[in-house]
Amino acid sequence: MPSAAVSYLQKGGMRHQATDGPHFQPNGFFSDILPRESGFDNMTEPSGQIDHVLNESRSFPPPAEFTEKAVISSMEQYEEIYRRAVEDRDGFWGEEARQHLHWFEPFQEVCQWEAPNAKWFVGGKTNASYNCLDRHIEAGRGDKVAILWEGEPGETRSITYQELRTEVSKCAAALQDLGVGVGDVVSIYMPMTPELAITMLACARIGAVHSVIFAGFSAESIADRNQDAGAKLMVTADGLYRRGKVLALKETVDEALAKSPTVEKCLVLKRVGQDNVPMQEGRDVWWHDCVDSQSGDLPAVPLDSEASLFILYTSGSTGKPKGIRHTTAGYNLWAKRTFEWVFDHRDDDVYWCTADCGWITGHSYIVYGPLTAGATCLMYEGAPNFPAENRFWELVEKYKVTILYTAPTAIRAFIKWGDEHVDKHDLSSLRLLGSVGEGINPEAWMWYHRKIGQERCPIVDTWWQTETGGIMMSPLPGITATKPGSCTRPLPGIVPAIVNESGKSVDANQGGMLCIAQPWPGMLRGIWGDEERFVDQYWSKVPGMYLTGDNARQDEDDYYWIMGRIDDVINVSGHRLSTIEVESALVSHELVCEAAVVGRPDDLKGQAISAFVTVTGEASEELRKELKMHVRSQIGALAQPDDIRFTASLPKTRSGKIMRRLLRDIASGQEVVGDTSTLEDYSVLAKLRTDD
Ligand code: WTA
Repeated sequence: MPSAAVSYLQKGGMRHQATDGPHFQPNGFFSDILPRESGFDNMTEPSGQIDHVLNESRSFPPPAEFTEKAVISSMEQYEEIYRRAVEDRDGFWGEEARQHLHWFEPFQEVCQWEAPNAKWFVGGKTNASYNCLDRHIEAGRGDKVAILWEGEPGETRSITYQELRTEVSKCAAALQDLGVGVGDVVSIYMPMTPELAITMLACARIGAVHSVIFAGFSAESIADRNQDAGAKLMVTADGLYRRGKVLALKETVDEALAKSPTVEKCLVLKRVGQDNVPMQEGRDVWWHDCVDSQSGDLPAVPLDSEASLFILYTSGSTGKPKGIRHTTAGYNLWAKRTFEWVFDHRDDDVYWCTADCGWITGHSYIVYGPLTAGATCLMYEGAPNFPAENRFWELVEKYKVTILYTAPTAIRAFIKWGDEHVDKHDLSSLRLLGSVGEGINPEAWMWYHRKIGQERCPIVDTWWQTETGGIMMSPLPGITATKPGSCTRPLPGIVPAIVNESGKSVDANQGGMLCIAQPWPGMLRGIWGDEERFVDQYWSKVPGMYLTGDNARQDEDDYYWIMGRIDDVINVSGHRLSTIEVESALVSHELVCEAAVVGRPDDLKGQAISAFVTVTGEASEELRKELKMHVRSQIGALAQPDDIRFTASLPKTRSGKIMRRLLRDIASGQEVVGDTSTLEDYSVLAKLRTDD
């Protein structure tokens, strides 16, 4: 058995001695992102209680009524599953896969593992769309509602598993008519309509590989992704609704397609009924012309366990976004089981994940996890504050949502908007709350617990990544005593290790790089078309282990606390962005000579984007606006810098490296502390300080 697993298991519930090493503030991680002076402190809590919350020793045991009916209902049960998944990996996962997925042909081997390459359920044939749809219909559950959908303007749809399979089959047949086959890449750029999920599942049904591009990205970003993936077909819509306005999508796609030579056809859904949608003869076809007329009985194609299911682009520390590649059987199983364990899924639940399918959370916890588990999922198209700030709570009341999974950035916005929007609604249907995307600060956690959960609902703070395919660490709601801000403990089969620069495990309460020491079914299988980058990025720093890119510490109760990134990735409203990506976009403007981008704390977004630029010619307010728009057009609105400072030069070391640490301090309005002895020119620093 691997040493990391031994140490995890042997620690059991024992407490570590306090160490003399560098201590992290109980809340150190959060003071990084959310300053204590942030307006949230006084918003919901009398200050005495806030002090209490900031002390992480506070813990919330699961309510007894919850535990009684929970899927995992005792610590012994968890420890047993955990132990078995690690000690008898192949036995455990083999049984899980046989029980929870449909097999057209059985697998011969459970796991082939030679770091960094994993193959799971080798030789087997399955199909993710079959697992999401046909399995339930065959079991007589075809009439259960799979998707409850509400559009931003208020229209509603309710789609059963039977109906969803028909829609998916029709779309799959249309894709085939358009020339898509096994292994072809389909780019999807769509609003949050059922057709987005239908298109994903249609790809899965015929073995095409989907690459969903969040519908807020620019034409440039779409073209980059199309090019990198070699996409053959695009699926889009005429537009989408956002805060009561119509945003055109097809025009953006046309601009991207002009630079996407591999894309042959474009399928267009009429969502908003725009007039004069540009349609290019021979390339563009309407959904209603080519999907609706199909018969709807296309069977799922048996696919190899390791056939690529999708690519999803995400930001890394360097260069362009990378296409994270997930495969069929392992990912599908991981999404289903983690959904069932963490969300304690029961047949009568109405589950709502508020993410967009453009991100991994939408892939795993709107589409593949819940649908494979046969859940009823609410899907909402629009903004949380349209027509008013109570929209989410209205939806919870209307659909009697029992499980709500959302992001800290949304929770912080709700706090800011005021309790009156929540108070109008009956939230008594809720039984479980989840959080994902970034660390949740204790103030937000407490508000979520009190105001939304009414002190009745456990909160699962789920830590994971695009690369991990599904949740890696999270409380299990029936058994884990939660601590505000901690993602608590690993799920079965997950062996985390926190190591220092030399790859050695660190003691309790000492921070270090978070790695995963053993393979798991949902792990990424590579970066699309770039094996070297895959090895370099995730497997070279700590040999044999998956490097997550996050810092973490483990406390005296063995709970994990994520402490931010070790690289130049920033987290803006739960979205991953590389500072270097934003810098490249800035530098691509003809007047910019040099740019340095850093994250700074922001009350709402977690981190905001601060840019320092040197320009040729006159720095002006106009240029500042232009540069913001330039980044928007290069990457998308989510990457637009919050502030841009013009400077004569950037602080550099003698070897020419930009000293980002100094810039981070300056951007966040802090005293510049720490070592500046390598700074090449001190006057730059003085100048930057006085520039404000
Ligand atoms: C961060 C989103 C703290 C982390 C599912 C990770 C979190 C990155 C949490 C992945 C959490 C996500 N607590 N940090 N509960 N969840 N993160 O790929 O830095 O969009 O590495 O996947 O978000 O972001 P990604």
